[in-house]
Amino acid sequence: MTGQNTRTGKIAVFADREAATRHLADWLLQEAQAKKDGPFSIALSGGSTPQLLYSMMASEPYASRFPWARMEFFLGDDRFLAHDHEDSNSGMLQRLLFSRVPVPAENVHLIPTAGTAEDAAKEYDAELKKFYGADTLQPGKPLFDVNLLGLGSDGHTASLFPGQPVLKERTAWVSTCVPPVAPYTRLTMTYPAIDASRHVVFLVEGASKRETVAKVRAQDPTCPASAITAMGDLTWVLDRDAAPADV
Ligand code: 6PG
Repeated sequence: MTGQNTRTGKIAVFADREAATRHLADWLLQEAQAKKDGPFSIALSGGSTPQLLYSMMASEPYASRFPWARMEFFLGDDRFLAHDHEDSNSGMLQRLLFSRVPVPAENVHLIPTAGTAEDAAKEYDAELKKFYGADTLQPGKPLFDVNLLGLGSDGHTASLFPGQPVLKERTAWVSTCVPPVAPYTRLTMTYPAIDASRHVVFLVEGASKRETVAKVRAQDPTCPASAITAMGDLTWVLDRDAAPADV
């Protein structure tokens, strides 16, 4: 596997949000159908950008073609909220995708909400390790086939926000974050967990993100997304508005 980062990763630019999203849905379908040695595992992003993707996956021609029973779904991060809260990523995914397709309930690994945020982080960390089959990440053995990430205008991804202690976390796979610039306590996968992906994909759209995409591709250290790496490859899936002028 190639070990790409935000600078060396490939860029795919599409005319608009619909085209970028359809490309990603087609690619995910192809990857999921092709995976034969075990389940196809994917960590999904929250926020608004990927919601069209999730709705598309739950609609034809995709809903009847994904091998749902051979797929395992995780979340890269969530707000520490009840899943029926309108701002919960788990709740959003339940509404747009998981409630509309025949994925077995045990294959959907939502982020827990019981106890404290620290308790929930430990519980999710343990769930990832149980799925992986080991407590430490092995070189060349990915935790996820795909890790789908968004990008905030401040350069955050998942809930890895600027200046937060979680940016230094290199042991735990899941931790907490209380971003001063965004609502709610968050639970997030850490850099090591995200890195342990065969494919990392940033799905970014809109002119408001163009400058941030350029900064992250230049690995600007003020942007937490700059430090994202992949055990395998990293791809930017962008609409024209989010793409830097030089691509
Ligand atoms: C979240 C996401 C977060 C998101 C970015 C971009 O919980 O909000 O996981 O990392 O991907 O904030 O959000 P938009 O897609 O809404 O711009």
